[in-house]
Amino acid sequence: MRFIILFGPPGIGKGTIGKVLSEKWNYPIISTGDVLRENVKKGTPAGLKAEFFMKKGELVPDELVFETLCERIKKERSTEGILIDGFPRNIKQAHMLDGIFANNDRIILMNFISSDDVLIERLSLRRICKNCGAIYHLKNIPPKKNGRCDVCDGELIQRNDDRPEVIARRLEIFRNETRPLLDYYSKKHRVITVDANGSLEEIIKRIEEIDLWE
Ligand code: AP5
Repeated sequence: MRFIILFGPPGIGKGTIGKVLSEKWNYPIISTGDVLRENVKKGTPAGLKAEFFMKKGELVPDELVFETLCERIKKERSTEGILIDGFPRNIKQAHMLDGIFANNDRIILMNFISSDDVLIERLSLRRICKNCGAIYHLKNIPPKKNGRCDVCDGELIQRNDDRPEVIARRLEIFRNETRPLLDYYSKKHRVITVDANGSLEEIIKRIEEIDLWE
């Protein structure tokens, strides 16, 4: 089975790009952030625990995230490939994930890069649908109707971890705990770096030009 891990700092576009790739390749996408947000919305015990960390921009405890990820991966095991967005975020999570791969699984880490200025601009103007989670950007990827989701007409809101002080903390965690995983992955798995500047169409075109499973 093929696993593509979408890797990169907050706001680089992992969720947006992942949705397009998921539809093009017919691979399900598992986003740990989305799964956690769903749990928060439903008020499950996992969601209540996670919310405490998420609103401060801190990482949720590893075991809690891993459990939800494993449940989803088990369900999707019959497909040809899976996109993973948001996991791993630290070395312990990288070891946990390696533990569930089978010998014949093929793994790629897709590393998206851009400058902090671009990330901050993308995060500050992001809006998501309160109902279905669809992602918009007020300037670059706006909804057709002001304040409403194109997919389900739900209300568009700002994520509560997209406040400036929380964004700064998330970027700091990425630099200190998550980015160092590149070294680990380049020794164990295939790493592909993708320039995440420019329009969504340009980024998708860049990805399509790569011979991923050579
Ligand atoms: P998570 O939801 O995973 O957040 P993140 O990694 O910080 O990433 P984002 O969702 O903020 O950004 P993105 O890269 O997906 O960008 P997007 O496509 O939205 O995690 C949230 C929290 O959950 C964490 O802080 C943590 O607390 C917890 N958590 C999750 N996983 C965890 C784990 N494994 N361990 C522990 N805790 C965990 O795009 C951003 C904006 O840019 C949008 O407005 C979009 O419309 C716009 N945009 C996208 N592409 C373009 C483009 N090409 N041009 C212009 N605008 C664009």
